[in-house]
Amino acid sequence: MNEYMKNCDLAAIITALGGRQALQDLLDVGPSAISNYLARGELPQRAHAPVCEALRLRGYQVHPGSLEILGQTQLAGGTGPTTNFRSDRPAQRVLLIVGGGIAAYKALEVARRLQDHNVEVTGVMTTGAQQFITPLSLAALTASQVYTDLFSLTDEAEMGHIRLAREADLVIVAPATANLMARAANGLADDLATTILLATTAPVLMAPAMNPAMWQHPATAENVARLANRGIQFVGPTAGDMACGEDGVGRLAEPAAIVQAALNCLSADSQPDDLSGLHAIVTSGPTVEPIDSVRFIANRSSGKQGHAIASALAARGAEVTLVSGPVSLPAPANVRLVQVESATEMLAACEAALPADIAVCAAAVADWRVENASSGKLKKTGNGQPPSLTLVENPDILNSLSTHQLRPDLVIGFAAEASDLQDNARAKLARKGCDWIVANAVTRSDGSSVFNSDMNSASLITGETAIDWPMMTKAELAVRLVNHITDHMADRLQAATLRDLVSQSASNRT
Ligand SMILES: Cc1cc2nc3c(=O)[nH]c(=O)nc-3n(C[C@H](O)[C@H](O)[C@H](O)COP(=O)(O)O)c2cc1C
Repeated sequence: MNEYMKNCDLAAIITALGGRQALQDLLDVGPSAISNYLARGELPQRAHAPVCEALRLRGYQVHPGSLEILGQTQLAGGTGPTTNFRSDRPAQRVLLIVGGGIAAYKALEVARRLQDHNVEVTGVMTTGAQQFITPLSLAALTASQVYTDLFSLTDEAEMGHIRLAREADLVIVAPATANLMARAANGLADDLATTILLATTAPVLMAPAMNPAMWQHPATAENVARLANRGIQFVGPTAGDMACGEDGVGRLAEPAAIVQAALNCLSADSQPDDLSGLHAIVTSGPTVEPIDSVRFIANRSSGKQGHAIASALAARGAEVTLVSGPVSLPAPANVRLVQVESATEMLAACEAALPADIAVCAAAVADWRVENASSGKLKKTGNGQPPSLTLVENPDILNSLSTHQLRPDLVIGFAAEASDLQDNARAKLARKGCDWIVANAVTRSDGSSVFNSDMNSASLITGETAIDWPMMTKAELAVRLVNHITDHMADRLQAATLRDLVSQSASNRT
């Protein structure tokens, strides 16, 4: 007897159950088992009874033999009519290109975690990558064939490199080695990976990883800039101890951060455009305040949180002006980037971008600048006395936008506090006149810094309430903030529409 049930619409069943994780939990299996079932288009016989029961408990009418969902009955307390049900949200497809770096093994974790989010993963490995992990490991974890060879006749007959490139909703390169990025930046198509990168019309997300000296090399920097200018998105690298024993920037971003960045790229296509028609200004990064023509005062802000917020707002359809101090991050997709240096320039750029509906001030703006910064290079006096610098206060961008005659509907500030997080943040909320504050600790309990990290935890303080967000990726925190912004703007727009209706009806009466 066949132990699999043929012809069930598994995608519909997964959606009805509430996602892949729900089916995993119900059957007590891992993500690769679900991928296997999806690839076969069938469930094992033993899954029949629990799936049927779970669907019925969720209010679905189910054909007992085929598990076909016939409709949805009224749930307890529900009022909706019985509806015909068919899944219209198939899994999204990611092509995961693995480069030949020491971090290749982490691509396996990326592949696993993507499948938790109803994402089908197909692996492509370079020759270099196969020195570090085997295609078999990736194939087992993705429940799908792994492609390695451009000239394999079987692959060409069954799939073809162009079709492989075109069928993906997103192409991820992890780890993106210096060599692979150099080849892609120069438009080479000398193996399957680079040919796909040339042929694909899908968005591409690269997660570079390499020795810090290789990352800092001008050749790599130029290649990254060229790729970024062509719209390729980047996640990482991050700073820390490297496998080569050195310390610096070059570590592969954590798999969770890569998965989150991938979901952001995917959701840019699938998320509702519920902020469409609204303009948001986001400030990001540090400001640098000149001392003379070569020296400056700056801070450690990386811009990762501000850029992630700009990206998340754009993904929900907002028109975004990102005003950023100097950072080494590429511009997020679909935002207008205005690059500035000092706080004075940042304020001018924000004011020039008004009117706006939303302002998120995530930049770490220097409180002070040097009065009368020298236009040349300050010289040693020769008498052993250092020059004395007079500091003057910088303009307060958050307060200026909060009190501006073209004040955006919603103004959100960030507070990086060293102590008494919520009390200080509340005081800042009142002082600056903004609507919400996102407060985070500059130094965490383990001594690590929020600056330049891919992770963040924060409290969102909105008038009387405070919502605590635990440690998560900055991309995820950005999505949570944007969810709140979207709810708030929906309420405001609804209230405005109601007001319009009331005043229209009043004027009709007079
Ligand atoms: C042990 C070892 C570790 C390596 N790690 C990296 C790395 O992390 N990043 C990188 O860019 N290159 C690394 N390389 C060099 C690449 O493997 C080499 O440039 C290769 O040609 C890259 O192949 P790809 O184009 O398939 O990625 C490493 C080489 C060795 C021998």
